[in-house]
Amino acid sequence: MAIKIPKPPLPGVRRRPKPPAEPDGKPRVSPGQQAAEAGIDIVGWVDERTSASGFLRGFLFRKVPKGTNWYYTLGSATMFAFLSQAVTGVFLAMYYDPSATRAYDSIQHINNDVWLGSFVRGMHHWGASVMIVLAFVHMGRTFFFGAYKYPRELNWIVGVVLLILTLAMGLTGYLLPFDQRSFWATVVAVNITGSGPIIGPYLADFLRAGPEFGATTISRFYALHMLLIPILIAALIGIHIYLVTKLGTTAPPWLKAKLPEPIDREQV
Ligand code: HEM
Repeated sequence: MAIKIPKPPLPGVRRRPKPPAEPDGKPRVSPGQQAAEAGIDIVGWVDERTSASGFLRGFLFRKVPKGTNWYYTLGSATMFAFLSQAVTGVFLAMYYDPSATRAYDSIQHINNDVWLGSFVRGMHHWGASVMIVLAFVHMGRTFFFGAYKYPRELNWIVGVVLLILTLAMGLTGYLLPFDQRSFWATVVAVNITGSGPIIGPYLADFLRAGPEFGATTISRFYALHMLLIPILIAALIGIHIYLVTKLGTTAPPWLKAKLPEPIDREQV
């Protein structure tokens, strides 16, 4: 005899109630409200399939220690500087030509002819220094607050790699205007790299794309500057912020830990 398996108690399809209507049957919601509801519906549709709201709620409304202050915004400020570099960099890449013969002229074109070109280039130029300064000050904050100690050592290490990559962005970007200063400064920097122990000469060859500066050096710097290093930085920022969310932030060192009240005999 075949066994009849009962149907699983699945909830029925939930239908949205109809919006309230006037006595004549016309809906009481305005087209503006309907448009807003459509937006909410789309967000709800995505949320049902990704459960993103749970993650976002935990991320945005997580508890922070007492005494959290402006110094804790330095990490986010560094991240904002990175995002600004990424956006302005995309617009510069639309006009920049990474070839030894045309790079200099393409920069002059951005500066003199392209609408808002010198503004966007200025943002990218000064933003690079802003990001480096912010990363150092943020590192100082985490050091002086003792945030590198257990269990945040890994986040400190990720931070160190982020700092090295940020400096590498500065080095690889410096060659791109391809004027006398940027060319010779890069020659000096790569020669210093070449004098480093064991991996120094290999690293210098890798950066130059050969034993001498040549036509392909600028393409190599450009590929590192606009593809490899930013992708690594974006991935590491993701890990860095995941760890901050997971472990929470360190309380300022001047806050004393509240010891539990001593229990007296009667309470026992
Ligand atoms: C691209 C560079 C960086 C970005 C975008 C970044 C971003 C952030 C953000 C948003 C936070 C949480 C808020 C805060 O405490 O400020 C944070 C925390 C932290 N960062 Fe960074 N960071 C960067 C570089 C560094 C560097 C260079 C170090 C150290 C070598 C570092 C070590 C840490 C540590 C240990 C924490 C945890 C702080 C705590 O528990 O109080 N970060 N970072």
